[in-house]
Amino acid sequence: LASASLAAAVLASVGAGAAPAEPGARAPGGPRFTAGADGAGDPYFPRAGNGGYDVSHYDLDIDYEPPTATVPPTPLAQIRGRLDGVATIDLVARQDLDRFNLDLRGMTVSALTINGKRATGIAPPADGAEVEGAAYWHVQDAAARQWELTVQPRPKLKAGQSARVVVTYGGETTRPTDIEGALYGWVTTRDGAMVVGEPEGSMTWYPVSDHPRDKATYSFEITVPAGKTAVANGLPDGDPVTAGGRTTWSWEAPDQQASYLTTASVGDFVQRPVTMSASGVPILDFVDSKIAGNALAATNASLALQPRMIDFFESRFGAYPFNSFGSIVDNDSVGYALETQTRPVYSSSAGQGTVAHELAHQWLGNAVSPDEWRHIWLNEGWATYAAWMWTEENGGTTAQQAFANWYAPARTPAYWALPIADPGALGLFATQVYNRGAGTLHALRTKVGDEVFFAATREWLRRYDDSTGTTDDFIAVFEEESGQDLSAFFHTWLFAPEKPTSW
Ligand code: ARG
Ligand code: ZN
Repeated sequence: LASASLAAAVLASVGAGAAPAEPGARAPGGPRFTAGADGAGDPYFPRAGNGGYDVSHYDLDIDYEPPTATVPPTPLAQIRGRLDGVATIDLVARQDLDRFNLDLRGMTVSALTINGKRATGIAPPADGAEVEGAAYWHVQDAAARQWELTVQPRPKLKAGQSARVVVTYGGETTRPTDIEGALYGWVTTRDGAMVVGEPEGSMTWYPVSDHPRDKATYSFEITVPAGKTAVANGLPDGDPVTAGGRTTWSWEAPDQQASYLTTASVGDFVQRPVTMSASGVPILDFVDSKIAGNALAATNASLALQPRMIDFFESRFGAYPFNSFGSIVDNDSVGYALETQTRPVYSSSAGQGTVAHELAHQWLGNAVSPDEWRHIWLNEGWATYAAWMWTEENGGTTAQQAFANWYAPARTPAYWALPIADPGALGLFATQVYNRGAGTLHALRTKVGDEVFFAATREWLRRYDDSTGTTDDFIAVFEEESGQDLSAFFHTWLFAPEKPTSW
């Protein structure tokens, strides 16, 4: 009981609970055409994503100039690149739309068309004020973490209607940080950029509905100084083309993808020979030519294991969900690796456990994504547990031993107090989300048995493929597959503010 009320208090304190009514929803008797919501309704990041429409495809045409080298070198915090983009966004209206928003941070829009019709850029009008004709305006308030580009289409969009929005934009690139102060988004490096958008950092480099609920397909044309390599998601769309000292790299990502998993990293990368899983998944690796010594040896060893890792995870989770895999290993660092779809990004070097973790995310996190950010344990607990499984498969510590190594040591009450299935926006990447999350999955496996555990996992991946799921959805699948009431189990492991002692 004490634990239930604490979990309830934490829920209340982060403003979780029932999702707020979509502000743009049509009121009975109200106007037919209304504004789409300025957020997807996620209590952790209220203005990430947008309401009133779904994006089907982003075509990103980006021209990038990395920082110029200076002597003495400019301090890292002050380096700047230059990005110029044309984003072509195909979307479908989900309500009769008078206006709708995109998220865009730190860039300036110079032109915008909707279905070929030019909109006028104007200063943000007062709330509720009428605006004449097709128009756009951009509110950027870093203190409020509010970055909203509003588009007023004329004619207005009817529910079900598709529209093409073309946004021409650009600006200096910096080293943006998330709510916790970690680098993310388009992170300018001395030789290019590391592009890692979790949870809502993709808005730093293209106009986007920046929430996993609005998945879309992507194509990319990234133009960089000749000699630099630009790597995005999916597969190359033809060979790079060089003209006038600049090279254009084209990529095609035809699978549904959450915006935080988009990358277009730029650097002195050298492509390795393509390898393949037994099932035929092509593996495209790009390693920074400046990586040397132990970092290079470790990276090479990990990358060589990727085909076998895919074979192993396919035997447990089912077919690899996308058209390709592979790694981007940058000598620069953002302090972590990210499971960018089909092509994770690594900082400084790629360790074996990290590669297994980011590969497992392709199923658990990328094919099936969190419906709201509070469900992050379904990403990080799972990827951590899958890496335990890989270590066992590869002759190391068993998953059972890894569980015991996590479970046995004494830890502080604060460690156990965090409800990992609702850790708060500042707790998304807390160690408990990873390790108690993995412990939860191991305890669940012990409780229901291997056969049910893996059958339910495959059912989870089948049912929510190309989509998103919640913790409740996950529990429901395991209850169905096991025929057991698992509510007490999951309450103890995910919410109770103390060390779980039963499973
Ligand atoms: N999802 C990443 C992983 O594989 C971690 C991302 C950390 N991001 C951050 N902004 N701190 O573990
Ligand atoms: Zn992870």
